[in-house]
Amino acid sequence: MALEEGARSCLLRFRQKLEEDIKPTYLMDHMISDGVMTVDEEERIRTQLTRKDQAGALIELLLRKDNLAYISFYNALVREAYDDLASLLHRDLPHISLNPHKGSSDGSATYVQSMLSEGGIPQRPVVFVSRPELVNRAREKLYRLQKEPGWITVFGMAGSGKSVLAAEAVRDHGIIEDCFPGGVHWLSIGQVDKPDLLVKVQSLCFRLEQSLDSQPLHRPPNSLDEAKERLRFLMLRRYPRSLLILDDIWDSTVLKVFDIHCRVLLTTRNRSLTDSVSGAKHEVEVESGLDENKALEILALYTRINLQALPEEARSIVRECKGSPLVVSLIGALLREKPNRWRYYLCQLQMKQFKRIRKSSSYDYDALDQAMAASIEVLPDEHRDLYKDLTVLQKDVKIPAKVLSVLWDLEPEEVEDILEEFVNKSLLFVDNNSKPYLYYLHDLQIDFLVIIFNPANMVLCCCVCAYLGFLC
Ligand SMILES: Nc1ncnc2c1ncn2[C@@H]1O[C@H](COP(=O)(O)OP(=O)(O)O)[C@@H](O)[C@H]1O
Ligand SMILES: [Mg+2]
Repeated sequence: MALEEGARSCLLRFRQKLEEDIKPTYLMDHMISDGVMTVDEEERIRTQLTRKDQAGALIELLLRKDNLAYISFYNALVREAYDDLASLLHRDLPHISLNPHKGSSDGSATYVQSMLSEGGIPQRPVVFVSRPELVNRAREKLYRLQKEPGWITVFGMAGSGKSVLAAEAVRDHGIIEDCFPGGVHWLSIGQVDKPDLLVKVQSLCFRLEQSLDSQPLHRPPNSLDEAKERLRFLMLRRYPRSLLILDDIWDSTVLKVFDIHCRVLLTTRNRSLTDSVSGAKHEVEVESGLDENKALEILALYTRINLQALPEEARSIVRECKGSPLVVSLIGALLREKPNRWRYYLCQLQMKQFKRIRKSSSYDYDALDQAMAASIEVLPDEHRDLYKDLTVLQKDVKIPAKVLSVLWDLEPEEVEDILEEFVNKSLLFVDNNSKPYLYYLHDLQIDFLVIIFNPANMVLCCCVCAYLGFLC
């Protein structure tokens, strides 16, 4: 895939300006971590005596490279805040499907964006690093669903990035247009019993019926069998060639409801869930850890320090976190708040011994325990106590600030400030697609809270549940 003509002439046109302004060392770090430039190539450029000569050599190299390198260079400019230069290059960004968010025209980006919002696909995390090889593997499987219905199981350990990957895989114009012109529809499942599952499928049916611009056909289905039939009708007749994304499945019986000859991608920790359903089956394994450079990039982006300038503790932290995207992100968020605590957090990770979250688990939670505890420790005492109250939240339930205002007996504004603090520290997640904003915990965070703090106050629990019942 040679460099497109438009992109080449753009580089030539703005060559002088680029040479005058850019600091190649910073940009090259990003390009290396995107895999579009080798360390040897970087070394050769660094041998040039002046910054300007280095910049010239980098442009020269780019002209001999391909579209991906151009896009990576553009992304590096954005990340290093060369906004003016990036906008010069933007117009001629090649359109390739692996870089959906930088589509060649605003029209295609808007089309993808509106499909994703309609389907409830989560946004990217605040700090995001690309995992191109993994995303490619997932997209390759999605293309297999183009011709015939079937199942894709995205599996891996907790916090390895399965949900982020599922969302990223469909954030692509080609995938939507070629494979799922009927849309992509996200449903968070989690550990549910039958009544919970029924409520979730009801809300999916309602969403699908509403998007057809018609009044929902009937009353909500009132059994799982009825819900399955309703869904079968909707998927086959009204939404042919669309994709259901079922996030965080624990139990294969859940899949029976969706065993209706449609296209499904599911995320799970358990790779054998689809054994009992019919149709074509595909798998994508998500490695539990990021490679070192990607994990370092997360730390660099959180702390706004250049990759090469990260302190020596950074590598050890990544090692202690075992590259877990979740844990590295938690530590990154902590360091953003307390930038001089690299050594301190490293020591905490190395020294602290917390109970495992689940004794009989095959997953290795050690690093996570430690990161979670470290996150909670930096909260002021009174906020730490409030955070412990979040043990009453259930998995995959999102609540507005108002509920916590009742639970904590605090003014809504004060609650919003506290929640903002939790979100900034990656202790809580916010869905800002909805109004009012909805808050929720990552399911690992709930596990951790339940084990460490053991929710005793059932009165609080009932109070929140009553509200949630009201809200659902
Ligand atoms: N590609 C990524 N870039 C940056 N952070 C990531 C990435 N993937 C995952 N994370 C971080 O890890 C957390 C857990 O990811 P998630 O996909 O929810 O894990 P899983 O579904 O496997 O439990 C995210 O909230 C985010 O902070
Ligand atoms: Mg998940």
